[in-house]
Amino acid sequence: MAVGAAGQAVSLSDGTVVPALGQGSARLGQGRHPLADEEQAMSTGLSLGMTLIDTAEIYGDGRAEQLIGRVIKGRRDSVFLVSKVWPSHATRAGIQSACSASLARLGTNYLDLYLLHWPDRVKDLAEVVGTFEQLRAGGHIRRWGVSNFGVAELDRLFRIPAGEQCATNQVPYSLADRKVEREVLPWCVQRRMPIMAYSPLGGEGSSVLRNPTVQRIAASRGGSSAAVALTWAMRSGNVIAIPESGSVAHVRENAAALTLKLEQNELRQLDQAFPT
Ligand SMILES: NC(=O)c1ccc[n+]([C@@H]2O[C@H](COP(=O)([O-])OP(=O)(O)OC[C@H]3O[C@@H](n4cnc5c(N)ncnc54)[C@H](OP(=O)(O)O)[C@@H]3O)[C@@H](O)[C@H]2O)c1
Repeated sequence: MAVGAAGQAVSLSDGTVVPALGQGSARLGQGRHPLADEEQAMSTGLSLGMTLIDTAEIYGDGRAEQLIGRVIKGRRDSVFLVSKVWPSHATRAGIQSACSASLARLGTNYLDLYLLHWPDRVKDLAEVVGTFEQLRAGGHIRRWGVSNFGVAELDRLFRIPAGEQCATNQVPYSLADRKVEREVLPWCVQRRMPIMAYSPLGGEGSSVLRNPTVQRIAASRGGSSAAVALTWAMRSGNVIAIPESGSVAHVRENAAALTLKLEQNELRQLDQAFPT
């Protein structure tokens, strides 16, 4: 196991095992909570086994990466670190310089996973793949992947030389948004490529946590709605969920999903409450 995962875990196609539950960071370091609380929240998540951290150069113009850099200082080796390059930087020179800047903000000399944030406006996908492979050969990144790719874009990617080296596709997936179950998830699973589920609680202000079925299952388990929603997202073993929280109490609730297992009848009830 690569990074001390307590509880549910997911295997990448290169055999690396990562926790099925990580931590997002899109709005961290930007004043939603006091900075110290957000750092404490992420640090608590690491201690509880949520050792995969997702970020991107675009989040708070680098402020999320800087916050993460402070939190992981002294424990880089126990973290699986994911960042993303924005499409406007998706040229050879642009990716190289974006990667260096992300590494500097994160205070590390390698990323475990580097993703192309969106396919839109990318002029030359083969150049992106070639540059990712160069960064990998140079030890700056351990592996690479994509985000927000549909099946047509994945097909195009896999026709490019080395395109099949793609480690994951990060997409929206929650009880409130099950679109990827139709095509994208089966496509990825068939190729032994786990997906990363972003906005797994349904995003900021989502009604998922207030849903009566979710609340009833949570109450019967003595846990939180968030833990139920996250356990549901991770149920197949092919999904890495990356909820974001700047609150220690919320992170504790979320981490409980690493060891929660839903029964078939509970999954059926959730299916009925949130049809595809
Ligand atoms: N690749 C992409 O294009 C893309 C797009 C969107 C997101 N992402 C990634 O996915 C991560 C998560 O997505 P997201 O932030 O959109 O949605 P999310 O994780 O589904 O929801 C985050 C919201 O839920 C709240 N929350 C967290 N735990 C909670 C709990 N236990 N109880 C009640 N509320 C809770 C958070 O507030 P508190 O802080 O107050 O807890 C925050 O408002 C992002 O941070 C980012 O890393 C990627």
